[in-house]
Amino acid sequence: MARFHEPQHPDFQRLNASIGFDRRLWPQDIAQSRAHAAMLAARGIIATEERDGLLDALTAIEEELREERFVFAAGDEDIHMAIERRVTEIAGAVGGKLHTARSRNDQVVTDLAMYVSERARGAQRGIVELMEVLLRRAEEHLEWPLPGYTHLQRAQPVYLSHHLLAYFWMLARDRSRFAFAEHESGRLPLGAGALAGVNFDTDRRMVARELGFREVAVNSIDAVSGRDFVLDYLGAAATCSTHLSRLGAELVLWSSSEFGFCELPDAWTSGSSIMPQKKNPDAAELLRAKAPRVVGHLAALHGVMHALPLTYNKDLQEDKEHLFDAVDTVELTLAAAKGMIDGVRFERERMSEAAADELIAATDVADLLVRLGMPFREAHGVVAGLVRTAVDGGKGLLALTDDEIIAVCPLLATQRAQFDAVLAQSSWLESKVSEGGTSLERVREQLMLARATLDECPRG
Ligand code: ARG
Repeated sequence: MARFHEPQHPDFQRLNASIGFDRRLWPQDIAQSRAHAAMLAARGIIATEERDGLLDALTAIEEELREERFVFAAGDEDIHMAIERRVTEIAGAVGGKLHTARSRNDQVVTDLAMYVSERARGAQRGIVELMEVLLRRAEEHLEWPLPGYTHLQRAQPVYLSHHLLAYFWMLARDRSRFAFAEHESGRLPLGAGALAGVNFDTDRRMVARELGFREVAVNSIDAVSGRDFVLDYLGAAATCSTHLSRLGAELVLWSSSEFGFCELPDAWTSGSSIMPQKKNPDAAELLRAKAPRVVGHLAALHGVMHALPLTYNKDLQEDKEHLFDAVDTVELTLAAAKGMIDGVRFERERMSEAAADELIAATDVADLLVRLGMPFREAHGVVAGLVRTAVDGGKGLLALTDDEIIAVCPLLATQRAQFDAVLAQSSWLESKVSEGGTSLERVREQLMLARATLDECPRG
């Protein structure tokens, strides 16, 4: 403290401290310090007795932290200083040797890389569990028709299995994005020192092996100033949360009396304090609303990193709260989505009634005309005319008289039997035979592909 004449302003200390949130990095910080002490001894930079004193102190501190007995001191700016202070209290002056050949700059980013790697694996586990449930529910509802929507208007019928599998594939890609973030956090920063490397011939590869890093960061400047692996995690988290928000939004709609397509499990809904009949889809609503929060964290860290001169700047301390909140949000919303999909009861009658709205077979009628030789654009216009006649007459397409059809399209009137066949409900779904379409055969293919995809996802 000899460098300073005046004590720190208490508000500066509050602004500057990260202990309030970075204490969650203690398991990483302890593991890192262990590996570092072992390496220092292996290189003859500290004596083996000194190493043992440090390791014993670290074990004692680990227990204090795990059992929540660790007493934080007023001057503990962050978790790294808190642990080092305590090492010195327990081990004596040798505690001061733990920081040999290490700076808080490479220390903090090393903890963070370990943390991101772990949580990226955690997110992948949560995603795989949700994919598993989606796939099972899709198998259970293989041939339940419901309307597919565009513009939230009934468009074309699909099978519920097909709709649920749409989320399965979004999540499969989300999993790959988290796997990429895990990969990107696999380079050990430790050994970069403050920014330029350290004045000892350390064994970074030994530390990397010990801590589960795949390789060592090649450039010390890049190592202490880079946080793109955090951006990678947040990018994956933002996209995944956005996908979950769409699932949440559909569950909100579908569970409304207006749709009546499903009933959400009691465990994921709440009652109203005033209206006893209500069952509110709070969890689904929160899936919707949490996504912008995660996207906000991604944008905020981009803001922190933007135009930041190399190398370490205190700005980088602002990476943590965005990351931590995104981690907590993603893991919790994945669990909520899994719980809801697992327990949701779909209402077959309501869905198939809505899917039986034969106006949604209009595209199929147009395609019939195309097969009879009419250009699609013209057929589109013909069917629009038929739909208008039907709607004006307050009836469905099947109820159109031959005369009404002749008035719009004489060609079609000659093919009345085919027209009726196209409007028979299952044919609207079964006609979607193209690869990736909703016909049963295609959905069965898709289910097999989904099962194979899931089997290839790393577990654990
Ligand atoms: N709490 C700091 C952070 O989160 C640790 C690194 C501090 N380094 C420094 N040179 N002040 O970034």
